[in-house]
Amino acid sequence: MTSYNIGVLSGDGIGPEVTREGLKVLAAVSAAEGFQYKLVDYPYSGEYYLKTKELVPNSVIDEWRTLDAVLLGAIGHPDVETGLVERSVILGLRFGLDLYINLRPIKLYSEHLCPLKGKGPADIEFVVVRENTEGLYSQVGGHLKKDTPDEIAIVNGIYTWKGCERASRYAFELARSRGAERGVGRKPTVTLVDKANAVRPQDVWTRVFAHVAKEFPEIATDHAYVDACCMWMIKNPEWFDVVVTTNMFGDIITDLGAMLQGGMGIAASGNIHPGKTSMFEPIHGSAPKHAGKNIACPLGAIGAVSMMLDFLGEKRAAARIETAVSELLQSGAVPSADARSGIATSEMGDMVLARLG
Ligand code: IPM
Ligand code: MG
Repeated sequence: MTSYNIGVLSGDGIGPEVTREGLKVLAAVSAAEGFQYKLVDYPYSGEYYLKTKELVPNSVIDEWRTLDAVLLGAIGHPDVETGLVERSVILGLRFGLDLYINLRPIKLYSEHLCPLKGKGPADIEFVVVRENTEGLYSQVGGHLKKDTPDEIAIVNGIYTWKGCERASRYAFELARSRGAERGVGRKPTVTLVDKANAVRPQDVWTRVFAHVAKEFPEIATDHAYVDACCMWMIKNPEWFDVVVTTNMFGDIITDLGAMLQGGMGIAASGNIHPGKTSMFEPIHGSAPKHAGKNIACPLGAIGAVSMMLDFLGEKRAAARIETAVSELLQSGAVPSADARSGIATSEMGDMVLARLG
C-alpha cells in the first residue's frame, strides 16, 4: 500500500484549528481510498519563536526535502517582528525547496458566496500561476543610513529568464490539461499579467512568455497590466482561464480572487516544484483575532489537503474532497465561507466529512 510522509506545520493563530479539520478530512479519505501516510509535526511558528527564539534551521529544510509533501496552516504572530517568522518558514519552504509555482485556483462553488452582482460558478473558474521564487520577494536589498532623514531603502525585483520560462511553461501546460478536461467549447487561454509599461525590465516576462507560447499553438494568449487585471477580475472574471504573473502581483490578485470565491476562508494554494517535495496551504494568514474561538472557516485548509492529494497522484481522493466541498456549498447549508458563518470550525469539518461518501 502506498504511504506518504507528510510534514505538518500548523503554525500560529487559526492555523492549528483549520489544520486539524484538514487532517480530519485526510484521515477519512485515506481510509476510503486505501492509502497510508505518516505525519511529521514541526513546531516552527511565531508562538514557538517567542518561546525559544528559534527559526527554521537549515538542517530542517534539508529534512523537508525528504518528505513527500508539507501541509502548512498559517504563520504570523502580532508580538514578533514583522515578517520574521513568515520569511523563515513560508519563504524558507518556497525558496529552500525551490517551489517555483504558487498555484492558486479561483473557483466559485455557489453563487450566494460571490460578492459580484450577476456572476455565478460558470463565470468564476480560473487559476493563477504565481511565480514563487523571484520578483520583489527575492530578499536582495537593504538599507543605507537607516533611521536618519537620509535613509535609502533598496529592494530589487529579480526576474530571470529561467524563472519566467518555467512559470510560463507550467501555465501553458495547465491550460492544455484544463482545456482537455473541459472538452470543446471555450479555447484554453493563458493571460500574462505584469506591469511592463511602467517597470520596463518586466518585459523579460513579455519576451519569455511569447517564446514559450510558440510551443503551444492551440492555446490562446492574452495580456493585462496588473491594474487592469484587477478591474477585469471584477468586471468580467469569466474572461480568465489561466493567469501567469510575478510573485508580488500574484500575491495581490489572489486576495482579490479569494473574495470572488467567497472569502479568504475558502482559498487554497499549492507551492509546487513538479516532481519534488511541495507545500500546500490555505492562502489566508493566522487571523489572531479569530484564533482559539473555533470560528475560522477551515475550507481553505481542506482545499489545500485536496490539492496536496492531487499533487501526490491520489486523484480520486482529491476529487472526493472537492466534490464534498462543492456539494456542501451548493446545498446552501453554509451561509458564508468566513468566521461569521455561524458554523464552528470543527462543525464545518464534520459537514465535509459527512459528504465524503
Ligand atoms: C501569501 C502570504 C505570504 C506572501 C506572506 C505571509 C509572506 O500573503 O501566501 O499570500 O506574501 O506570499
Ligand atoms: Mg498573500
